[in-house]
Amino acid sequence: MSVLRASVLRLTAHPVFRSAAVRSGIWRRFVAGETLREGMETAQMLRASGMAVILDHLGENVSAQAQATAATDAYVDAAESLHADPTLDGAISVKLTQLGLDLSTQLATENLSRVLDTAGSTLVMIDMESHDYVDRTLDVYRKLRVDHDQIGVCIQACLHRSTRDAFDLPEGAIVRLVKGAYLEPQSVAFARRAEVRAAFGGLFATLAARDATIHVATHDPALVEGARRFGYDRVEYQMLYGVRTDLQRKLVADGLPVRVYVPYGGEWYPYLTRRLAERPATLWFFLRNLARPR
Ligand code: FDA
Repeated sequence: MSVLRASVLRLTAHPVFRSAAVRSGIWRRFVAGETLREGMETAQMLRASGMAVILDHLGENVSAQAQATAATDAYVDAAESLHADPTLDGAISVKLTQLGLDLSTQLATENLSRVLDTAGSTLVMIDMESHDYVDRTLDVYRKLRVDHDQIGVCIQACLHRSTRDAFDLPEGAIVRLVKGAYLEPQSVAFARRAEVRAAFGGLFATLAARDATIHVATHDPALVEGARRFGYDRVEYQMLYGVRTDLQRKLVADGLPVRVYVPYGGEWYPYLTRRLAERPATLWFFLRNLARPR
C-alpha cells in the first residue's frame, strides 16, 4: 500500500474529518443513500443501463448482539425486496463483522445462515475484511457452503496468503477477486502496486484452473483487459457504485456481464474513507472545496 494511501486512511480517522464529510455530502458520490428504498431505486436505474447489482447494507465491527441482529434483519429485508422485483438481477454482499464476528464466530454464522435462508436462489457474497478476519471468514464460508450453493467469498490479491487460500477453496466456488482495501502490515501484504497486480493475475489463473466463477472486481483497466484476454467464460465484471462509470458502460456496450456494488445505509463513513484513500485526488478536491469561503 502506498504511503499516501496509508496517510489518507489515518487522516480520515480524525473526528473533524468525519463531521466535514457529513456536511459536504461527498459520501453521496459513492453511496446510494441511507435507506434500502434508495438502494433499490439505484438498482433499478442501473438495470435500465444493462447492469446487475449487488446490494451492500453498510456497517462493520458491531460490538453488541442487538446491532448484529439489526444488520441481519436489514439483509433479510434486502433479500425480500430483491424477490419482490424479479426484473432485477440482484445479489447481496455482507461483512461478517457486521453480523457479529467480533462477538463470536457462531453468532456471525447463525446470522448469515438466516440471511441465506431468506435469500434462497439469490447470490450472497461475503466481503473480505482485514487480514485478522480471513481465517474466520473462510471457516464460516466453508461451513455454510455445505448447504447453500448460492454463497461466495472474496479473496484479496494484496495478501501473501491468498494463493494458498485460492487453492484451498472448493472446486467450482464463486469468488470475488479484489486488490484489497485495508491498511495491512508489510509482514502479511504486498506493498507495491505492481506486486498486487501481478498477484491478481496469478490468482485469476488459479481460480480459473479450479473452475471457479470469478467476479473480477476492479476498476483497473489493465486487469480488466487481462481477464478479457484470458478467454475464460465464467467471469463477471464488478465495480463500485460511482467509480469508473465510463468503464462500466463500455463493458456493457461490449456485451460483457457487469454487476455494480451498491452500498446504502447510515454507516457509510468507514466505506467512504476507503474510497477516498484509493483516489487521493478526490480527497484533495473535497478539502479544497471545504476550505473555500462560503
Ligand atoms: P486501483 O485502486 O488501482 O484503481 C484503478 C483506477 O480506478 C484508478 O486509477 C481510478 O481511475 C479508478 N478508481 C479506483 N478507485 C477509485 C475511487 N475510490 N474513486 C475514483 N476512482 C477510483 N476490498 C476488500 O478488501 N474486500 C472486499 O470485500 C471488497 N469488495 C469489493 C467489491 C467490488 C465490487 C469492488 C469493485 C471492490 C471491492 N473491494 C474490496 C475494494 C478493492 O479491494 C479495491 O480497494 C478497490 O477496488 C480499488 O482498487 P482497483 O482494483 O479498482 O484499482
